Amino acid sequence: MVQLVGHDKRYFIFRVETGGRLHSNRGVVEHDQLIGREWGSEVFSHLHRPFFLLIPSTDDLIRDIKRSSQIMYPKDIGFILMKMSIHPGITVVEAGTGSGGMTTVLAQAVGAEGHVYSYDVRADMQTLARRNLEKVGLAGRVTLKQRDIVEGFDEADADALFLDVPNPWDYVAQARRALKGGGFFGSIVPTTNQVSDLLVALRRQSFDFLEVCEVLIRYYKTVPARLRPTDRMVAHTGFLVFGRPVTFAEPPEAEDEGDEGDEAQPGDSDEAATGAIE
Ligand SMILES: C[S@@+](CC[C@H](N)C(=O)[O-])C[C@H]1O[C@@H](n2cnc3c(N)ncnc32)[C@H](O)[C@@H]1O
Repeated sequence: MVQLVGHDKRYFIFRVETGGRLHSNRGVVEHDQLIGREWGSEVFSHLHRPFFLLIPSTDDLIRDIKRSSQIMYPKDIGFILMKMSIHPGITVVEAGTGSGGMTTVLAQAVGAEGHVYSYDVRADMQTLARRNLEKVGLAGRVTLKQRDIVEGFDEADADALFLDVPNPWDYVAQARRALKGGGFFGSIVPTTNQVSDLLVALRRQSFDFLEVCEVLIRYYKTVPARLRPTDRMVAHTGFLVFGRPVTFAEPPEAEDEGDEGDEAQPGDSDEAATGAIE
């Protein structure tokens, strides 16, 4: 995948193929003139319009995808990856797929050894998402499932599960069954009353370590002499809700007060003295 970026920051992202051509209103660029060229170098269309040759960032890939649903913002996705500990080798479940923006980032983050299972009730959404994933070469890491998640998920031991649907509180029981104990749950909703509904459902299903937040990002104009924020800002995208499914157990019986024999004493082994878990 390459990105050709004009001096005005407008860009084209595409897969380079021998003999291929990029046609745009700025003229034609032959793919062959890009192959073997150093990243960051400047190239010209047949109309002498300039572009820089760059590797597209994940942010660029997401902004560039064809969409017919609201897609998530990079600022939110980035924080979600961190909070839900999305890393190579893990299994992630997601609904809804939508245009596949979040799916693309998840697929990139879980690496070749990990896998993403993405559910959407709409076949047209999954067709679009599949096309978007194929375009960036990540379709092999994703299994798309067309289903209403009220029927539940097929997975039972997922490391993480993310819901981007209008009524996530209706599927918390299903999410709980799909997640492994202590796994990571996350969701995004646009309004605070949706957050309240979700919190109630999460508590009912024994999710703990609940967190609610939103991510605000403010860009600056990159003019050193007049450094100040840009005039416009995306003020609100969504509230992020996180939690972990836990299992409560009966507390152990209290020991007799007079029995001090088991307490760690100075000179005991490191494990006993520090209370390290075996
Ligand atoms: C806002 S879009 C998801 C966007 C996606 N996160 C992205 O980044 O492109 C919400 C999707 O959820 C799907 N959806 C809503 N309710 C659902 C349900 N009960 N089961 C499965 N999918 C559902 C919709 O069809 C829609 O495609």
